[in-house]
Amino acid sequence: MPRTEFISTGFYVPERVVYNDEFTQWMDTSDEWIRTRTGITERRWAAEGQLGSDLAAEATKVALEHAGMRAGDLDCIVYCTLSPDYFFPGGGVYLQRKLGLADIPCLDVRNQCTGFIYGLSVADAWIKSGQYNRVLLVGAEVHSTGMDLSTRGRDLAVLFGDGAGAAILGPTADAGRGVLSTHLFADGSQAELLWCDLGGTAHKPRMTPEHLEAGLHFPVMQGREVFKHATTKMPEAVAAALATNGLSTADIKLLIPHQANLRISEMVQRRMGLRDDQVYNNIQRYGNTTAASIPIALDECVQAGRLARGDLVVLTAFGSGFTWGSAAVRW
Ligand code: UT7
Repeated sequence: MPRTEFISTGFYVPERVVYNDEFTQWMDTSDEWIRTRTGITERRWAAEGQLGSDLAAEATKVALEHAGMRAGDLDCIVYCTLSPDYFFPGGGVYLQRKLGLADIPCLDVRNQCTGFIYGLSVADAWIKSGQYNRVLLVGAEVHSTGMDLSTRGRDLAVLFGDGAGAAILGPTADAGRGVLSTHLFADGSQAELLWCDLGGTAHKPRMTPEHLEAGLHFPVMQGREVFKHATTKMPEAVAAALATNGLSTADIKLLIPHQANLRISEMVQRRMGLRDDQVYNNIQRYGNTTAASIPIALDECVQAGRLARGDLVVLTAFGSGFTWGSAAVRW
């Protein structure tokens, strides 16, 4: 059975940079609070009318260019997001249309911050089985249109940013390389610790002025609880990846944790006993871009020459659901 390799990666973030200080015009916050608690100094916000699928298309074009491929070479799209352009259909078909493609299948993955790892697991299984040979895996998010910019929403509004990351995956004949394993986990008993009530079918009518007045269309989070779980579950998921492959933390060239909070990444690093050069973070510049954070970070590492053929890179994520997971990849 062939293994799945990353043929290329790419990312795109909107041009508009939003610095921490900007938030002080809307809410009671400070650059100092945001930097101290989260490590974030800036994030990107999409321009008016710029949709998640637009960001995804730009990221895909970069990945195609890096691969020396054309959109027509792709035979499947896996689109991961928690912020779809519309309630339905999902973003995959819009991305397909924007790439000038037709007929190829488009799968939408709704696993929030862990979306890219869930999507990678599906793509890996398809490629290994021989069902598809060139899978485009994208994480794309627009959070900026859905944040409560009043003091009520300050814990979340300052955290999130917009962006998209893409990977093109295919089979490799080199048995030593590629995706070694994926581990996926979920715990629905904790769903409301990080969620958004409105937008689904639970309410009849689905949306009223009272709902909007109460802010039910904004995401809410029990930050401390989420922090606690994230810093426990990500190390566990990485440990599962290492154990499955008979590897140890010393074998890790790069750990790319989902970028939720720099303090979370630092605690994961400490708990796993990893050196600074073994962990990559870029949340300082982009905030939390949920499903896009890992592929954005991955492409930055590739472009910076931080991954050589044969290096072990481990991806891990934790987020709403709760969902969490890991992937071990021999580059
Ligand atoms: O993508 C995966 C999901 N997300 C995460 O993994 C995030 C996990 N959680 C966190 O990163 C942190 O819990 C936060 C960064 C969200 C919050 O940091 P914290 O140190 O846990 O603060 P806290 O929620 O305990 O709040 C401490 C204080 C509160 O004020 P009082 O009650 O002590 O007066 C908050 O109201 O900080 C206040 N606060 C703020 N102050 C200024 C919350 N947000 C802000 C803000 N600016 N933006």
